[in-house]
Amino acid sequence: MVIGKRTVTQVKRDDPLTGHKDQNDREDQRGTRREYASGSLTRADLASDPLSQFRVWLDAAIASGATDATAMALATSAISETASGIRAIPSVRIVLLKHFDDDGFCWYTDYRSQKGAEITSNPFASALFYWHEFERQVRITGPVEELTPTESQRYFLERPTESRYAAAASEQSAIIDSRATLEQRVAKLQQNYPDGRVPRPDQWGGYRMQPVEYEFWQGREGRLHDRFRYIRRGRSRRGAGWTVDRLQP
Ligand SMILES: Cc1cc2nc3c(=O)[nH]c(=O)nc-3n(C[C@H](O)[C@H](O)[C@H](O)COP(=O)(O)O)c2cc1C
Repeated sequence: MVIGKRTVTQVKRDDPLTGHKDQNDREDQRGTRREYASGSLTRADLASDPLSQFRVWLDAAIASGATDATAMALATSAISETASGIRAIPSVRIVLLKHFDDDGFCWYTDYRSQKGAEITSNPFASALFYWHEFERQVRITGPVEELTPTESQRYFLERPTESRYAAAASEQSAIIDSRATLEQRVAKLQQNYPDGRVPRPDQWGGYRMQPVEYEFWQGREGRLHDRFRYIRRGRSRRGAGWTVDRLQP
């Protein structure tokens, strides 16, 4: 497929209401836009199951050399009861997808982090992949569960030594007084485990999200984008049937 020309326009605008020239400065990006013209997505292009469709798009992104093709924005939210009712304020951050199959999409983190606390409170998440080289995004939503300690251990042992020290030294998302304190903790671990075989903290591990909904988005000219949503029918994870609908852009 042809990767579209990425022409970003940034024009000095006339205010459409007053006719005055507007400054198009860093704080006003209303005039910044480009066309999305890399490709198209039709029902005939779609795989019958969304996992296969996801594989095709991820493989294309990886094969193109896209940076961080496996990075996904992961949204979670804790449920809290306030005087004015139930609240679930979302928070979002990038994590790396590490493996996926019929059982779900897996990433690794610190269970004590903000995302960990939010998943404990509300075990659902939404993940978003954006491959700008292809003008494509995929949104995936579903319930989340922890991986088993054995699965987490397996991946922990695969990580580079520095990453293992870092995971053991950091209580992710907790406040710390200085970087020096963090570096001292790493130095101590390096002293105690000079061969790099630092134990995996119990609180470091993986999560699996089991998708119940996917949306595949392909940017198109004039903002008439193609969008298809798969919703899982029934409760079974494996061999589930999916309802596929085209959504308005
Ligand atoms: C490219 C990229 C990849 C990242 N991968 C991970 C990851 O796989 N796991 C992780 O816990 N944090 C990862 N992070 C850091 C998170 O974005 C985030 O700062 C951290 O998980 C704490 O988030 P929280 O406080 O919302 O829990 C990554 C950040 C970037 C920019």
